[in-house]
Order: sequence, then structure tokens, then C-alpha cells
Amino acid sequence: MSRQSAAALDVEDLNEEDARAELARLAEALGAANTAYHRDDAPEIADAEYDALKARNSAIEARFPQLKQADSPSERIGADPADGFAKVTHAVRMLSLSNGFDDADIEEFDDRIRRYLGLGDAAPVTYTAEPKIDGLSLSLRYESGHLVQAATRGDGAVGENVTANARTIDDIPTRIDGAPDVLEVRGEVYMSHADFAALNARQSKTAGKIFANPRNAAAGSLRQLDSEITRQRPLRFFAYAWGEISTPLAETQMAAIARLSGMGFQTNPLTVLCKGPDEMIAHYHEIEQQRAELGYDIDGVVYKVNELELQRRLGFRSTTPRWAIAHKFPAELAWTRLEAIHIQVGRTGALSPVARLTPVTVGGVVVSNATLHNEDYIKGRDAKGNPIREGKDIREGDRVQVYRAGDVIPKVADVDLSKRPEGTAPYAFPTTCPECGSEAIREEGDAVRRCTGGLVCPAQAVEKLKHFVSRAAFDIEGLGAKQVEQFYRDGWIREPADIFTLKDRYGQGMQQLKNREGWGDKSAHNLFAAIEQKRQIPFGRLLFALGIRHVGEQASNLFARFYGTWDEFIAAMDGAAERGGPEWERLLGIDGVGEVMARSLVTSFAQFHERDSIDRLVAHLTVEEAARPDSADSPVAGKTVVFTGTLEKMTRAEAKARAESLGAKVSGSVSAKTDLLVAGPGAGSKAKKAAELGVETIDEDGWLDLIGDA
Ligand code: IVH
Repeated sequence: MSRQSAAALDVEDLNEEDARAELARLAEALGAANTAYHRDDAPEIADAEYDALKARNSAIEARFPQLKQADSPSERIGADPADGFAKVTHAVRMLSLSNGFDDADIEEFDDRIRRYLGLGDAAPVTYTAEPKIDGLSLSLRYESGHLVQAATRGDGAVGENVTANARTIDDIPTRIDGAPDVLEVRGEVYMSHADFAALNARQSKTAGKIFANPRNAAAGSLRQLDSEITRQRPLRFFAYAWGEISTPLAETQMAAIARLSGMGFQTNPLTVLCKGPDEMIAHYHEIEQQRAELGYDIDGVVYKVNELELQRRLGFRSTTPRWAIAHKFPAELAWTRLEAIHIQVGRTGALSPVARLTPVTVGGVVVSNATLHNEDYIKGRDAKGNPIREGKDIREGDRVQVYRAGDVIPKVADVDLSKRPEGTAPYAFPTTCPECGSEAIREEGDAVRRCTGGLVCPAQAVEKLKHFVSRAAFDIEGLGAKQVEQFYRDGWIREPADIFTLKDRYGQGMQQLKNREGWGDKSAHNLFAAIEQKRQIPFGRLLFALGIRHVGEQASNLFARFYGTWDEFIAAMDGAAERGGPEWERLLGIDGVGEVMARSLVTSFAQFHERDSIDRLVAHLTVEEAARPDSADSPVAGKTVVFTGTLEKMTRAEAKARAESLGAKVSGSVSAKTDLLVAGPGAGSKAKKAAELGVETIDEDGWLDLIGDA
């Protein structure tokens, strides 16, 4: 059947082959129309025609859902294509690594692992040691040996689909032999020093963007909407890990990496096996020696437990594996002049001192601002009142040392008293808010001085709104920090809920918004479309967007996974307002949740004004339920389990963590609420009580059978 006649057919009459061909053509046509309209400001087709193409695309996808591509045009609602890639939910989350900075941290890492696994001193654990590449991580999914998807890490759970771009990278094979049916290869995309220098030289000739360092250049090059641009960028890839996999690659990390190498991936030649911390630290110093000659940036050494069975037993904390650690290289330093100290007011009212510096290059990046943390830090004291920098204070005009480590915000680390200008005075930290004039107070035990103005303080209100629309939160295209400030100033948006009534209030015929400076037909239309699109929002994002103190992105996702639905969460927050009650205990029982975070969370939902504002917002939204990974179909999800007696195949900590990761609640005592007692040899009173209460009791092997780990 010819293309034309297929396109003219009713969707009902299409066969799969024609549908596939037509979807490809529609994607191309819609993509071109988008580019013409959004990027080039030169529409090529009428709106109605665009809508018709899109409707046909959706109708075909509805009939043949298996043909829908992750980057389908139907997933791009109204937004400018330059703002995004299709989202990819990782089959296995992409984690980060915990960090160690000195030898003691590495010894402690090894100790912790041996304690967790219940191994004595005599049983050394073997680790791999390899460079930590300073690039960005990428997950490559192969099915039957074909590269089908490449995704960035994103927030670990959801990344961006950059498949077309990954295909342009020479180090990434598009076909591999001898691989499991499903194999997700993970590793780092990076740029060599030489390629980076050449790229910047080219960019400066063509007045293109100059990149600050190879990592930014790699990230900017991979995240191009036009894969032809990526193709011209010399990106490379090292494989060092994997995600979903249908059959294990090997029994050890080392052998698994060797298999990846055999399949055609680049793996780092400086990867070695080490028996214990001494050998690990020795290899760290060896890599450190070679660092300058490697030709690409690395920022430390990664150690991983070599036995994959032990990795499995060790499992994960909320965002990092227990079986790996990054041993970071010391940070980079430079000296410059502190021109002035400015105070910024954050969304929680914190007054943060910022150093304005004479610009200086630190580790390849020009730094002109650095954090001074808080008033004690400026005075040369730590939180406990002990001297730091031998008690030297920091003054405007001082010659200061700036410190920068990887992604960490640069900080002022030291001051050279011999260069202190005459006549300077110690810095007087303000006791009123520089933004609203309210009193700024320090509570007992808090290192930070805070403005007491609450939402009366424009800085706090605006910062909260900026956070709300930021990338990891609502990520509303066309509504960034600058626009939020403008809307706030003019009184159009005072709180998050106002964003979702903006169109009703000011969008009539778009006239009011269009008449404002900086807004035209297209941008007004796009803004309202982008807001519409975010009426449906994942639970974790919503919670993070609220900007509750101590509740960051990872914690928000943790709560989302734990409580599943917004309604259940709200009910739990209301219940937890009773300190010490069962909901409060349940909250504190979540792995990774401490008292401070729990208190901040519960208080936010209990405070009248804040709660009202949240409820007003949520009334405009559809909150997506969060998947409860691992635990949803686990046989122990939602059950209360007690462990007693001696466990022989795992330690108590391991048993507890594993049970919790499967959605069970682990309790220390048996009661009528207990669903299951796991009793090892020597079980005493708990086993007796369980028998009296008729609680099901099994032994350790029974437990392992039940959870499928035997
Ligand atoms: S392993 C489950 N190995 O560092 C563990 N990561 O700070 C997955 N990275 O997100 C990571 N070199 O992007 C691993 N040799 C290496 C690495 C490496 C660089 C990056 C990776 C990760 C980040 C964590």
C-alpha cells in the first residue's frame, strides 16, 4: 500500500505496518512544525492543520498502543520542543554514591560492610577500585542486543530520553552480541581535555556557547534536541554498572565489567581488585598520581564490593548503594579578594551570607560568589562554638581562599590575616531582615538566623514560588525565576495556587497577559498551555515543590513511595500531629527519616495558613500516585514483622532493611498487630507471646523462602 493511500484510510482500517509508517511520518511532520513554530518563529502550517495531524497521531496510538514511542508527539503538549526530551521511567533506579574524603572514611566503609554482613575481622572483603569519571551518567537499554533506549539519570527515577543522541556516540554500540535479552548498561558520558579545548576553540570562532569545563560541555552536548549537533561533539562513554538485566552477567563486579568490555564497551583500564582498605587507599594514590595525565577529568575513586551476591545482600539506602563509595579527591583552591558580604533571604527565611569575590578561576570554573554559611562561620566558630580557621574571622576586603569540590557550591575556606587591609572592622551580621525589615532571630541550637516575616516577607514568598516552579519541582515552561518575580511584584501570583487561576484571572482572550511587557501571543499561549500540563503532577514532585524545610527531593520521593497516594499521606500527616501516636511512630520508622525532618513535615501540614495554602493548591491538581517499588507485589508488603532469636544467614540490620525495602514494617515487640514472627534459635519470650496471640511464626529459612531469597 502506498504511503498516501494509507494516510487517507480510517484509523480502523490501518494494519500495524501502515500504522507504524504513518506514525513515523506524523512524528516527523509534527516535529518540523514544532521547530518552525517554536524555535524558528516561522510557522509553516496553520494551527488547524497542526491540530488535525496531532489528533490523527493520537488516534493511531490509541488503536496501536504498542507502537507508541517514548518520544511520541502526543507526549509534547503545546510546549516548545527546546524545553525538553520525553521522560523515561528507569526500570531500576539510577543511584548516586555516598562520599568519603579521607582514609578513615574508607576504613569505616569497610567496617560498616563487614558489620552489616556479620563478617569477622578475619574475613576480608574484596573490592573493585576504579576512577570516578567526572561526566554525566547514562543508562543504555539493549533488547535482544539492540540499543532501544538511552536515558539520562534525571532525578534517579525518571530521566530524559536521549536515544537519538546516544546513537551518535562512537563508544556506544548500537548492536551487541552475547548479551542477555534485556540489558541496561550504565556508565558515564564525558569529554576528553583535548576535545573540550578544540570544541571551545570552534565555539568561539562561531560565536557559540563557551563551556566552563568538560563536564558541562558533555552535558550540554548530550542534551541537544538536534542529534546532528550531538554528532559533531566528541563525546565518549565508559561503562561501569548496569540496571535491569534478564540474566546476571557474572558473579563478580570485575567479571561483569569484563563481559561488558567483551561486548564492545569501553571500560576503564585503571580498574583493579583490592583486598581491604589498605590496598584500596594505595590504588587511590596511584590514580591520583596519574590524574593529570589521564586526558579526562576524574574527581575521585569508586570502590565497589566485588561479590555480586554480597552487593545484593547489602542493598540500598534511599539513594545510594551500601556496597559502594566514592573516595573524592581533595577540592581545588584559589586565593582572591572578598569585595563585599551580601545577605540573601531564602524561602525558609534563612539569612545566608554570600561572598562577592573578585572573579577567580578555581579548577577551571570562574567563581565570583561563594557561600559564607552563617554568622558563626564568619566569626570563625563552628556550631558548637569551637574555633575554625584557628578562630580567624572574615571581613570585607580580606584576601580569602576559595574552595570548590565538584558540584559543591564554592565556599570561602580561609583568610590570610597578613593581607588584611588597615582599618577593617568585624562583620556585623544583621538582626533585621534586609528584605522586609522584620526581626531576624536565631533559635536555640539553630546555626541560622531567620527572618520572622513569614509570607509577609517578599523574599520568602518569592523564593518559595521560585522553588515551586523550579526544574525538579513543577518545572513550568515559561515560568522561571524572572517571571515569578515579575508576577509577584505586580500581585498576580502570591502563592502557588494562584498559578493555576492565572488564566481565569488574566488570560481573557490572552489580552491582559499579552499586553504586559515581555509577553506576546505565542509566549502567553505557551505559558497557559504549560500550566495546564502541570495540573497533573507526580506526588513526589508536589511534595518537593512545597519547599518544606528539611524535605528535599529525595525525601519527597521517599514519602511518595511510602504513602503511595496524596490522600493517604495527608491522613497520615494529620494523624502524626499527635506526637508519639502510631502515625508519628510509623513516620519515624521510615528508613531515612529522622526526628528533625518528621517534625518539620508534620508542622507544615498542621500550621493553619500553610495548610490552607496547600489545600487551595491541591484543589487545582490531580496528584499522581507513586509506585511502591519492590514492595507492591511483595508477599510481606504492609505486614508487621518481628525478628527474634539468632539469625544465621544475615545480620539483624540486614534483615530489617530487606524487610522494609519489601514494604514490611519491622517492629521490636510482638503484639496483636504483629503479622509474622521470624524466630531463630534461642527465641524466648517473643516466641511465647506470639504463640499465645496466634501470630504466625516461621524460622529464618522460612523467611528467606517467603521473600524469594533462599
Ligand atoms: S557507580 C549504583 N562508578 O558518580 C552505583 N559511578 O556520584 C552507580 N560515576 O551517578 C554508580 N564514575 O554518574 C559509578 N566508576 C564509576 C563512576 C560513577 C562516575 C558517577 C555516576 C554516579 C555519580 C555518583
